Amino acid sequence: MATFKLAVMAGDGIGKETVPEALKVLEAAAKKYGGFELRPTELPWNSDYYEKHGRMMPEDGIQQLRAFDAILFGAVGDKRVPEHVSVAQTILAMRRGLDQWANIRPGRLMPGAPCPLKDKEPGQIDFVVVRENTEGEYADVGGNLFANTPHEVAVQSAVFTRRGTERILRYGFELARKRKAQGAGKGQLVSVSKQNAQRHGQVFWHRVFEEVREEYPDIESRFLYIDAACMDMVRKPETFDVLVSSNLFGDILTDLAGAIVGGLGIAPSANLNPDKAAPSMFEPVHGSAPDIAGKGIANPFGSVMAAAMMLDFLGQDQAAQGMVRAVESVLSDAKAPKTPDFGGKAKTREVGDEIARRV
Ligand code: NAI
Ligand code: MG
Repeated sequence: MATFKLAVMAGDGIGKETVPEALKVLEAAAKKYGGFELRPTELPWNSDYYEKHGRMMPEDGIQQLRAFDAILFGAVGDKRVPEHVSVAQTILAMRRGLDQWANIRPGRLMPGAPCPLKDKEPGQIDFVVVRENTEGEYADVGGNLFANTPHEVAVQSAVFTRRGTERILRYGFELARKRKAQGAGKGQLVSVSKQNAQRHGQVFWHRVFEEVREEYPDIESRFLYIDAACMDMVRKPETFDVLVSSNLFGDILTDLAGAIVGGLGIAPSANLNPDKAAPSMFEPVHGSAPDIAGKGIANPFGSVMAAAMMLDFLGQDQAAQGMVRAVESVLSDAKAPKTPDFGGKAKTREVGDEIARRV
């Protein structure tokens, strides 16, 4: 029996409400499918911790996390802590510190999920965005000169390394291959870039894309400029299978992708270290939602879907698929409990119970 040590960082606000539901559904899946056992450890690293210790995580937090097989994360964000501090000391610290270089966000429209596009049916939209997660435009390189004077200057640099660019593109091609083999994808890949305007980093990205695609003649690949990709994601999302992009472009593209397949209530995200040299982190896309926190009405679908991605990455694909089917079943059943954001009157806990029951 495989045993997985799971670090659970629920964080702030509704993270504390949705993550327990994901754990509940994980337990149900472990019981139903067998073959593995989860050992969760709750890590109270959030804004309360910051208030006591002046930081979001212990100094050796990243080191402590290395002892786990995976991290289930909720959200951070609280008015007591500046936003760039809470995110930098948790999410960004994990992404870089644990070399979680591939950010994966599926864009699949499930039956019952709200879609803001007209005439799009479940089954039509099914793609995955692969976003470079450790460098690019979010590399923390730059500085200020003459701060707080009239001639203030700010410089922010984007960093594209051969290692970082090659591995993310190759990951995308491998994923396209895997999806094709599973019958889930069409064997297509789009590299999203902007080499016409960013003549150094993006020209380099595109050149590496041209090189790597040679290794995958079985995958139909092309590139789109980021602006055109955004337009097509709204106009014809059914034309996408796998999209690969740099950090900033991927950030924007994945929010758009999430919005067309149901929005914050349901969107999950995985921060993978595909080399498995350090634990990967799985999180709902939503933040701490202070406007509804404490009311027990947050939608747990996103956290449950993130937990399903975690089981899949841990090699428990049967159990992962069981969890996804349970979410689909609750989502598409008009009589099943839903939280207010999905038009229902149910509490977070009731939805979690129902998903766990249907696993
Ligand atoms: P948010 O995602 O927390 O909320 C945006 C809107 O969507 C709110 O009206 C909220 O009530 C609703 N919403 C979000 N998740 C929901 C769910 N599961 N069920 C029902 N409704 C849901 O984003 P916002 O308001 O921009 O940020 C709030 C705080 O969260 C900020 O401090 C921000 O920095 C932080 N944040 C953290 C993230 C993370 O930890 N990954 C990501 C985004 C924001
Ligand atoms: Mg974002």
